[in-house]
Amino acid sequence: MTYVLRIWYMLALVLVCPNTAEDFQWIKNNTGSFYYGTFPTGFLWGVGSSAYQTEGAWDKDGKGPSIWDAFTHKKGKVFRNETADSACDGYYKVKDDIQLLKELKVNHYLLSISWPRIMPTGIKAEQVNEKGIQFYNDTINSLLENSIIPIVSLYHWDLPQVLEERYGGWQNISIINYFNDYANLCFEKFGDRVKHWITFSNPWAVAEKGYETGEHAPGLKLGGCGAYKAAHHIIKTHTKVWHSYNHTWRSEQQGMVGISLTSGWGQPIDVHSQTDIEAAERYVQFHLGWFANPIYKGDYPEVMKNYVGRKSAQQGQGTSRLPTFSVQEKSYIKGTSDFLGIGHFTTRYVIQKSLPSLHVSSYDTDSDLAELVDPKWPAPGSEWLYSAPWGFRRLLNFIKTQYGNPLIYVTENGVSEKVQCTQLCDEWRIEYLKGYINEILKAINDGVNVKGYTAWSLLDKFEWNKGFSERFGFYHIDFKNKNKPRYPKASVEYYKKIISANGFPNPREVESWYQKAMDTCSITNQLLAADPLITRMEMVTEIVVATVFTLCILISAVLLMFVLRNHS
Ligand SMILES: *[C@@H]1O[C@H](CO)[C@@H](O)[C@H](O)[C@H]1NC(C)=O
Ligand SMILES: *[C@@H]1O[C@H](CO)[C@@H](O)[C@H](O)[C@H]1NC(C)=O
Ligand SMILES: *[C@@H]1O[C@H](CO)[C@@H](O)[C@H](O)[C@H]1NC(C)=O
Ligand SMILES: *[C@@H]1O[C@H](CO)[C@@H](O)[C@H](O)[C@H]1NC(C)=O
Ligand SMILES: *[C@@H]1O[C@H](CO)[C@@H](O)[C@H](O)[C@H]1NC(C)=O
Repeated sequence: MTYVLRIWYMLALVLVCPNTAEDFQWIKNNTGSFYYGTFPTGFLWGVGSSAYQTEGAWDKDGKGPSIWDAFTHKKGKVFRNETADSACDGYYKVKDDIQLLKELKVNHYLLSISWPRIMPTGIKAEQVNEKGIQFYNDTINSLLENSIIPIVSLYHWDLPQVLEERYGGWQNISIINYFNDYANLCFEKFGDRVKHWITFSNPWAVAEKGYETGEHAPGLKLGGCGAYKAAHHIIKTHTKVWHSYNHTWRSEQQGMVGISLTSGWGQPIDVHSQTDIEAAERYVQFHLGWFANPIYKGDYPEVMKNYVGRKSAQQGQGTSRLPTFSVQEKSYIKGTSDFLGIGHFTTRYVIQKSLPSLHVSSYDTDSDLAELVDPKWPAPGSEWLYSAPWGFRRLLNFIKTQYGNPLIYVTENGVSEKVQCTQLCDEWRIEYLKGYINEILKAINDGVNVKGYTAWSLLDKFEWNKGFSERFGFYHIDFKNKNKPRYPKASVEYYKKIISANGFPNPREVESWYQKAMDTCSITNQLLAADPLITRMEMVTEIVVATVFTLCILISAVLLMFVLRNHS
């Protein structure tokens, strides 16, 4: 009897737990109320930015052009044909921006290195730009002198244009070695001081927007294949760089190398419908899993292989448009991230939607789903960015169950605004940050291993194909003013409070933050309102100075002539 029972028990175990990994609970409803509490001690607070969006100085001091320089210089690619030729002038304002970081009292700053600034053609054997190395070296040193930890991304989208033109950029497998040379140079030059490395920031956008839809540089529309191929090479590159670090630098430098993946959350519109759950999971797998699954489990997600494979066959293609990894590659790739960087901004409701497969092949239709949003979700800025904080907790729990509870740093999270007239009292950003950071705190209580948070971003900056029309910054920049002055928004004050309290200690305190933040912004608003006047005064001064100078010369000349004539 016991024997039979035991067999039955074992059978039941096998049936219930087909694998050892924890399963994500789709049905569990954990949209609770606001949670008051603090983060674990040692939790890292920071802000981020990226090279192309902020530095400017696009052709200064030996920097080579990137695909974004080439892309923005073509007409019709970016909102109002704007470029980041000068952007926030971050290249010249490192000291000023570090003051802003000190003002925010952040523990870390996430920045990216521009590959063509330190290797103008992208190829180490051809040229290394010492001035570029000097610039990042000085930036890193200044951060450390101010006790701010630099978290450095090696790639935030600005591929050297030469590599794109000559070889097809991320479409060409040989880019792996060029990038690995670049990464190794960065480890060699900065790795004694930089301990947190990100190989790629949001590779999903690089692949999908750069090589599939063409909305981003290099602007190629290689429908159905381009994104998969680019992603395949990016994953292999990431792996190679991780192994280089592990092999050559880790024992001496003792740092970490990870990747930063950006993904929305996909919520089944009806959690009791298996079809909706599967569609929502496909949404997450086609965004996050595309990169995370190979890195944590050695291969693309099964659903991606199935769906892209089946669609390719239906479209008469001999092999799947999703490339495959060999057995050796799988084991080489698996486990190559010391931490997982997560960028997260928004959520979608998802439903199953079969799309006709005779359709042109595209990444977008491969997943057979449709995305919906709740019109009640606030969407103050970018048209894709709806605020639904609870999605973040689910995404983080999904990561915990899928990839064995990895060490996570939130590398990007924030909200934009679109208002054309200047508005420093950004209460919507305060609401967004409060809600999203609170969901991270709940996720930590669920057991998710999040060790740091990076708000996106420090400054208003060049927002890719949207130009300067969407503003993600804690600091407002008047881009029309050639001095690019920075003005704090109300959210600066609020984020400072979250940082110094290490969370949300109690209702009374947290409520007082809001009013204080709002008080500071009305003062700054007045300063900013006076700014056009100041700018005009500068202009006037310039004209007056020039005029007076010219007059002086004329008068001197006349006097001289007069004196000379009198002498003769
Ligand atoms: C989850 O619970 C909240 C509060 O109890 C409720 O308002 C919401 O509709 C529920 N959501 C789902 C998806 O069941
Ligand atoms: C951008 O450039 C294109 C091509 O020269 C031109 O047609 C368009 O009007 C420009 N847009 C703006 C806003 O200047
Ligand atoms: C970078 O800074 C470090 C620390 O100050 C210094 O030792 C090193 O020589 C610098 N390297 C370059 C290329 O300037
Ligand atoms: C890929 O790059 C190599 C150089 O590294 C080049 O020889 C080759 O022609 C490129 N392939 C394509 C298809 O552009
Ligand atoms: C990483 O480097 C260590 C020390 O050299 C080595 O023992 C280990 O096998 C390496 N890990 C991988 C996955 O290659």
